Amino acid sequence: MKGGEKVSKLEVPKSITSLVFEPKEIGGMVIKNRLVRSATTEGMASEDGSVTDKLVELYKILAEGGVGLIITGYAYVQPSGKALPRQTGIYRDDLIPGWRKIAETVHEHGDGCKVAMQLVHCGRQSWSLEETMAPSVVFEPVVNKMPREMTVEEIEETIEAFAEAARRAKEAGFDAVQLHAAHGYLLSQFLSPYTNRRTDEYGGSTENRIKIVEDIYKRTVEKVGKDFPIMIKMNVDDFLEGGINLNESRKIAERLSKIGFAAIETSGGMDETATRSIDLVASRTKIRSKDKEAYFLPYAREVKKVIDIPLILVGGIRSLDVIEKILAEGSADFAALCRPLIREPDLPNRWLKGIGGLTADCISCNACLGSLVEGGVRCIQKEITEQESAG
Ligand SMILES: Cc1cc2nc3c(=O)[nH]c(=O)nc-3n(C[C@H](O)[C@H](O)[C@H](O)COP(=O)(O)O)c2cc1C
Ligand code: SF4
Repeated sequence: MKGGEKVSKLEVPKSITSLVFEPKEIGGMVIKNRLVRSATTEGMASEDGSVTDKLVELYKILAEGGVGLIITGYAYVQPSGKALPRQTGIYRDDLIPGWRKIAETVHEHGDGCKVAMQLVHCGRQSWSLEETMAPSVVFEPVVNKMPREMTVEEIEETIEAFAEAARRAKEAGFDAVQLHAAHGYLLSQFLSPYTNRRTDEYGGSTENRIKIVEDIYKRTVEKVGKDFPIMIKMNVDDFLEGGINLNESRKIAERLSKIGFAAIETSGGMDETATRSIDLVASRTKIRSKDKEAYFLPYAREVKKVIDIPLILVGGIRSLDVIEKILAEGSADFAALCRPLIREPDLPNRWLKGIGGLTADCISCNACLGSLVEGGVRCIQKEITEQESAG
């Protein structure tokens, strides 16, 4: 809702909300509705990645807003995996108490809301580090860095670091974790033939490129048990010459579903994709009409056919009736929202109560990306609108 605008009571036909607000399980974890907060890095942690009061407050507001599952912004599992200043980390045991405050706050204020921690290693896509490492030596043009190739010993350390991070998330009271294997970060770099040119057991065939993810899954289960849901976010297409395309992402998704992952979130693009076309990145702009919404839906439909675990769809989803239609046709089990919940953290409750319009207020301008390095994530567009209406 725009500032000062009169709130209208919307007649929401039952057909539009019957599935959206229906509970569904992910790996034994009951999610009260089909709305997921897609991972959104916050830019609010201390320099060592520890949780601040500002972060706890952000998650309290999100939990109160009615979303069914919150996935945190990506937390780095090793200092060598840090992408951004003021990014959260989960690489040491003494970071657990801060994270516990977030888990407890969500559970206390969220009326059944569940919370998962997203785990990441940035690989070649780091703004924070001078030196980066990656599966192979492939120049990264956005951060303007040449990574060095990881040794097998370093790969082994990273597998252990992901598993240890998941163990810490569980100890902190989180309901689940999600591996970030999308958007060109380290696991995405291993999956992609564009960034993975290795000739050892971690490169080459699709199976070999999946190996690091499979090893992390197995090591994590050893530490957290089979009942703790481990989800994964992956690319349906890298939108880069020589990268993952739909044909291959279907094979990857099928394998991940068989390995035991609890859910797959389908996204697309790497940072480098922006050098090819800004219209192909994960957070696309100009989503101003319903036909532009859910831009990964055609891919998700194909992935859904080969997996037997829940599919979380993300990318430009803005309207309640669009979500209901996607759920009804069986193309996805959950709809994940990032930017709409930056602007309106209470959007799920607004829809549930039938207040305002069916479409989120977010205009997909991406000005919020700039706020990550200027005090923490927020809707800059909303601030501009409020300043204009006040002045
Ligand atoms: C400010 C901002 C921070 C983001 N942080 C993350 C993140 O930490 N992990 C991740 O997987 N995706 C991240 N994304 C991508 C979103 O999760 C999502 O995939 C993308 O924005 C498309 O969804 P939307 O149209 O609902 O925003 C971020 C996007 C934005 C705009
Ligand atoms: S700045 Fe606000 S309106 Fe623009 S994309 Fe971000 S959340 Fe949406």
